[in-house]
Amino acid sequence: MDKIKIKSSDYIFKGDIQVPADKSIGHRALFIASLNKEMTKISNLAMSEDVRTISSDLQTTIKCLADIGVQFAEVKGNIFVRGRGAKEFVPSEGILDCGNSGTTARLIIGLLSGQKFESKLDGDSSLRTRPMNRVIQPLEKMGASISSTEGNLPLVVSASQLKGGKFNLELGSAQVKTALIFAALCAEGETRLKEIKKSRNHTEIMLKSCTNNLTIEKDEIIIQPEPKVEIESFDVPGDPSSAAFFIVAALINKNSELIIRNVCLNSTRIHFIEILKKMGGEIETVNAHEINGELIGDILVKSSNLKSIKIEKDSIPMVIDEIPILSLACALAEGTSEVLDAGELRFKESDRIRTTVSELRKLGSDIEETDDGILIKGKDNLKGSDCESHMDHRIAMMIAIAGTIAKGVTSIKEPECVSISFPNFFETLNNFRK
Ligand code: S3P
Repeated sequence: MDKIKIKSSDYIFKGDIQVPADKSIGHRALFIASLNKEMTKISNLAMSEDVRTISSDLQTTIKCLADIGVQFAEVKGNIFVRGRGAKEFVPSEGILDCGNSGTTARLIIGLLSGQKFESKLDGDSSLRTRPMNRVIQPLEKMGASISSTEGNLPLVVSASQLKGGKFNLELGSAQVKTALIFAALCAEGETRLKEIKKSRNHTEIMLKSCTNNLTIEKDEIIIQPEPKVEIESFDVPGDPSSAAFFIVAALINKNSELIIRNVCLNSTRIHFIEILKKMGGEIETVNAHEINGELIGDILVKSSNLKSIKIEKDSIPMVIDEIPILSLACALAEGTSEVLDAGELRFKESDRIRTTVSELRKLGSDIEETDDGILIKGKDNLKGSDCESHMDHRIAMMIAIAGTIAKGVTSIKEPECVSISFPNFFETLNNFRK
């Protein structure tokens, strides 16, 4: 698919939808099931359709874990996993290919750093540019031996006996935190990780639900090694980061009344809803209930007049994936909005400060890039234009939602990258055509 075209005024966001299952929880379900020597059933994993041009992050994780000895089977849409225990993985015959997935790469580096064998890892050209030093350096403090190409992929993780200890998590990255938790499970002695900035906490919640080896005291995560993981099943809820696109679509288009069912409502993930509510968004969460320790429920959203907002500091790690779509909401809000302290956006599938600014500017937004953020002067309309995804799924989806309101026609070059997190995104969007 070379280009896709979206015509404004064609859409009305009324009705009831489901979004794909949560990617972060899906990755963790696969990794944690790999630590369970018995069978784990994972239902509602965001797997792909049969014919796809781009494989999803979760397929990448499955392939890498299978390469180190984990067994997977798919029966009636559920994934059954027979894992090996924390330190009993086996060497891969070839290079572990992390594809486009930063989460796969960083989590598996953590898991492999305390094994008794050497592993080689690589990724696609985009992943090769993304920093791995953020996991390499703290893992080296635990005794890991990792040689890389200037802190990037490709890299080699050698056999090491890791040692626990006390470490600070400065970056506010859930990927780094999870890599260290997985390493700590293979280390000698207790590990204490102090969270300086709060990031998504699915790993902690999920591990606590199936071992006694992880406890939390205030801002410290305490891990004992060699867990006995006991879990029969994980049921993965809908992804709030995918829901965010349709929430903003409903807010900025007239006459919307949308329900998004069965979404993960973990507070470290739906902070963007708090931000949109502060901007004047009419959004409600209902039917909340707990599964595997995670809060799940439905999200109701109506068209709203939005006003500007400042997004900064500690809230950034909790909305890191939603900043492109929040920027679109800001572009259509009254007043000037600011995104500050968000330098981390430069290390995602694209430099999301640059790509968000360049694409929204093409659509007529008054928007500026700063070193670590974005300044957006809101307007009451946008104009259709020729845009590009930069092969970044969240940028492609943001442009598509902008296209539902930008006057005229908006085209998106290389839109197929939406498959990374939302394979049927364009079909879902098409269902809202009048
Ligand atoms: C993720 C954490 C975030 C996020 C990514 C998924 C995870 O990255 O951007 O899409 O599942 O842990 P960082 O933790 O590096 O900010």
